[in-house]
Amino acid sequence: MPLQGRRILLIIAGGIAAYKSLDLIRRLRERGARVRVIMTAAAQRFITPLAAASLSAETVYTDLFSLTEESEMGHLRLAAETDLVVVAPATADLLARMAAGRADDLAATALLATERPILVAPAMNTRMWRHAATRANLALLESRGVARIGPNAGPLAEGETGPGRMAEPLEIVAAVEQMLGVGALSGRRALVTSGPTHEAIDPVRYIANRSSGKQGHAIAAALARLGAETVLVSGPTSEPDPPGVRVVHVESARAMLAACEKALPADIAVCAAAVADWRAEPAAQKIKKKNGAPPALKLVENPDILASLSKPGNRRPRLVVGFAAETENVVEHAREKRVRKACDWILANDVSPATGTFGGDANTIHLVDEAGVEDWPPLPKREVAERLAQRIARFFAGKAAE
Ligand code: CTP
Repeated sequence: MPLQGRRILLIIAGGIAAYKSLDLIRRLRERGARVRVIMTAAAQRFITPLAAASLSAETVYTDLFSLTEESEMGHLRLAAETDLVVVAPATADLLARMAAGRADDLAATALLATERPILVAPAMNTRMWRHAATRANLALLESRGVARIGPNAGPLAEGETGPGRMAEPLEIVAAVEQMLGVGALSGRRALVTSGPTHEAIDPVRYIANRSSGKQGHAIAAALARLGAETVLVSGPTSEPDPPGVRVVHVESARAMLAACEKALPADIAVCAAAVADWRAEPAAQKIKKKNGAPPALKLVENPDILASLSKPGNRRPRLVVGFAAETENVVEHAREKRVRKACDWILANDVSPATGTFGGDANTIHLVDEAGVEDWPPLPKREVAERLAQRIARFFAGKAAE
């Protein structure tokens, strides 16, 4: 059990997501953690202390000035006798009180008194999440080292859609494991490329492709959730930076290669970026229309980042994984690509327009390695990422056992 003997102080604030915190208690305990719970007054409007007490098999603490609770466990002990404090759901109000350093109830007092790492799982209405006050409070808390997981985007309680849903209990558990250094990939370093690259034609125009960055970003997030120290080198995308990942934003293939080399050494490299194969030699000034022939673009080949990371040498990551975007003979081309680029695994996918892979949410993968081919069912990109991260963890577990 990965969390055996670990102590978690779970602070539940008042939001509808509080019902998911009951499941979170169960999930943490399943993994061996001891969970003590503090509930704010507002949280008790959504779920009862009795439910939290039954699931945690501990007294639930609610009141700063309770003589019985104080005699059993002072609030300072509550804040100190833990390995990690998790705030889930972290409401806009509690985040504001944390940022301001308030101590106006037991939850805020424990958060102010603790010297342990704090993880917040925000949950609120989308407009409250986007409000400048919430943004500023979170920026301040993050600058003080408070870690955050979520919120996720999706349908919210009021019938609206957008960011604001609390991260799922298992995502919170994974973040807890990562922070406590008990994930299957903790101690490993991972490098992931994602998104398209933009290759300048002149100061205002560029060559690009339709890659959304969804798959690469999801892989970086999944590796980080398993505890890997993850660097994501991303071309221009509208995907948000994944939590717990260091993101380096680049535009061109050459900048992507330079950023990857800078991120070495790494144990794992996953090249999911749709790197432009060619770049133009950019004009110094905007190319003007002239009567007659359109300008000729002289294209030169870009460096191949996957092949370059796969080159034998002492800086080669132990496991290098590439993608093969194909529109025909998918597996055959992938096998050839694995050998040509000297990487260890290729995740081949059919990107012909009818499959909707580029920019879409799902992917059908054939994993080609030295041993053969593994056909995966069509899966959401998030699950492809999860499955790949788990397989990478198994690979390293096998190596450690050898
Ligand atoms: N890749 C890379 N750098 C490049 C081109 C590709 O790192 N300059 C990586 C991609 O991230 C992916 C893999 O190589 O992991 C395969 O990309 P793909 O576009 O399928 O292959 P190509 O190299 O373009 O080969 P081909 O033109 O034969 O399809």
